[in-house]
Amino acid sequence: MSESLDLAAFPADFAWGTATSAYQIEGAVAEDGRAPSIWDTFSHTPGKVAGDDHGDVACDHYHRWPEDIALMKRLGTDAYRMSVAWPRVRPAGDGPVNAAGLDFYDRLVDALLDAGITPNITLYHWDLPQALQDRGGWTVRDTAEHLADYASVVAARLGDRVTRWATLNEPLCSGWIGHLEGRMAPGLTDLTAAVHASYHLLLAHGLTTQAVRAAAPGAQIGLVTNHSTVEAASSRPEDIAAATRLDGHTNRWWLDPVYGRGFPADMRELYGVELPERPGDLDTIAAPLDWHGLNYYFPATVTDDPQGPVPYAREVRLPDVPRTGMDWQIDAGGLEALLLRLTDDYGVRKLYVTENGSAFPDTVSPDGAVHDPGRTRYLEEHVSACARAVRKGAPLAGYYVWSLLDNFEWAYGYDKRFGLVHVDYGTQTRTLKTSGLRYAEIIRAHRESHA
Ligand code: FCB
Repeated sequence: MSESLDLAAFPADFAWGTATSAYQIEGAVAEDGRAPSIWDTFSHTPGKVAGDDHGDVACDHYHRWPEDIALMKRLGTDAYRMSVAWPRVRPAGDGPVNAAGLDFYDRLVDALLDAGITPNITLYHWDLPQALQDRGGWTVRDTAEHLADYASVVAARLGDRVTRWATLNEPLCSGWIGHLEGRMAPGLTDLTAAVHASYHLLLAHGLTTQAVRAAAPGAQIGLVTNHSTVEAASSRPEDIAAATRLDGHTNRWWLDPVYGRGFPADMRELYGVELPERPGDLDTIAAPLDWHGLNYYFPATVTDDPQGPVPYAREVRLPDVPRTGMDWQIDAGGLEALLLRLTDDYGVRKLYVTENGSAFPDTVSPDGAVHDPGRTRYLEEHVSACARAVRKGAPLAGYYVWSLLDNFEWAYGYDKRFGLVHVDYGTQTRTLKTSGLRYAEIIRAHRESHA
């Protein structure tokens, strides 16, 4: 099997990792000075999250991190993508720094490095301090400046040991799902708020890039965005136009400004919302980056939907295609295509797949194992897609599986399990799944191919 994966395509120093985020695993939401974030508020609002689940305890990683690092060692990964919780470090968003919050990450980073694992730190994975939401959140410009300030505090503390930094995780989800669709915190459904939030998020990315560079010279900074390939459901001109709109909404709106093209004119016109632009912002947003992180899960097929919500393109559920437990279509070819688009169209010179993975309803068998053939197949197919992209010239430097652990899957709660490691939430027992064993084998086989 490892031959058919073409692991020799990957360079010798290719990073194999797993990814998590703070609110999804840490728990300990009221400990050591942490204040609530918008996700505490949202998840404690009845009806917002499946089963009214919340992250109060999650995987209790705040206390169990030594065990979780030991699991990474069992997998043989040499990289770990994690996020720092803004409401631990600066509980009010701006104002006093909480030393205990910073100390937690300091210990974690040291332990990762001792284990031979390179941390890749995301500064914003959706947990905006509630105090800033109360002052307008991402709809106001100040929030962008506050993110950069908090980031410089973190970078000044950890930048002597951490070099790989990401500013934001998936601004599309914060912007569109959080402010337009209302399915994520802060739960708004307002186009003007959403467009303004998207603008301030990208501005925050640019300001944070500058701030981290100033605080930690030598930092390697990237942005993590999520994308889908978009196909029209038919050759009707209306469907083809709908596909162009969804591509604008999902892909170009987030990439064009970062790569110096400004905000796409067709989408500006479609949204019809004035951007809160100031001179110099576009240059800030387009600051050259050291790498780009792609999160990929599924492709999209769309049909024209003139009566529907912006961007008037409805996703069609294709029959007879493989799907994960999220009901997301499985299509590894989409990962290859997006890696090549970032390379060839946007000129990205260093790429990571910062998230890729699948949820299935796993259970612990009587033999004590967690057999998850669906996830194993998904992993193999997507690693193969990466190898094909590398053979075609994509400068891919690493791959992070989402996720190390089953965890709090946002609006889906604990129902959807993405981990290579199963978590029993009643006892906090961790069990490596067979997909985790397969990942360990892939990593070993890749190392051997370069030995
Ligand atoms: C991504 C998020 C990540 C996780 C996966 C399944 O959108 O970045 O936190 O929830 O989806």
